[in-house]
Amino acid sequence: MSGLFITLEGPEGAGKSTNRDYLATRLREQGIDVLLTREPGGTPLAERVRELLLAPSEEPMAADTELLLVFAARAQHLAQVICPALARGAVVLCDRFTDATYAYQGGGRGLSEVRIEVLENFVQDTLRPDLTLVFDLPVEVGLARAAARGRLDRFEQEGQSFFEAVRQTYLRRAALQPQRYYILDAAQSLAGVQQALDNLLPQLLERVRG
Ligand code: TMP
Repeated sequence: MSGLFITLEGPEGAGKSTNRDYLATRLREQGIDVLLTREPGGTPLAERVRELLLAPSEEPMAADTELLLVFAARAQHLAQVICPALARGAVVLCDRFTDATYAYQGGGRGLSEVRIEVLENFVQDTLRPDLTLVFDLPVEVGLARAAARGRLDRFEQEGQSFFEAVRQTYLRRAALQPQRYYILDAAQSLAGVQQALDNLLPQLLERVRG
């Protein structure tokens, strides 16, 4: 694979999608082939799995069911979209990936990391993101932003302690592997975040152009 695989992570309300679109525009201005996508989802079938995962339901979803659905959607997304794009040399900007599984199903739901790792190896083989941007912000700020957007999905209905665990999992993983992660302060103004992305751009271009 010759492309560059960049994932964007963070809690609800961190501005990932807006900043993903901004980064895509900046890269495209430089003539780079950019593919924008998201998880769970990214293909028609995987988007249907996303609906199952996000819709509040009367029947509680077992944590293992949630984990397997996330990886089922991921397998489809990799086969149909991510791997072909990387093979043609594109920069893939993906809103969430397996770090979200460690954060939400691991940190939030309390599933063992070893189990997640088994599925990660099974579904992804050796594929890992080249770079992961973590949009970090205090839990209460993110939850207030999510609430202002309207009806809450099944994850957004979780409480403060769930999202504290999500946040801490991202920060812990980033600290363990600083060469792969880049933490952005998402509590600052949008202009501030975009300035930080602009600062990162020369390094990204260098990596894309090899
Ligand atoms: P979002 O992409 O609109 O933020 O919503 C996706 C939700 O799915 C979000 O609450 C996090 C959750 N999620 C997981 O729990 N595990 C995963 O592996 C992924 C990719 C997302």
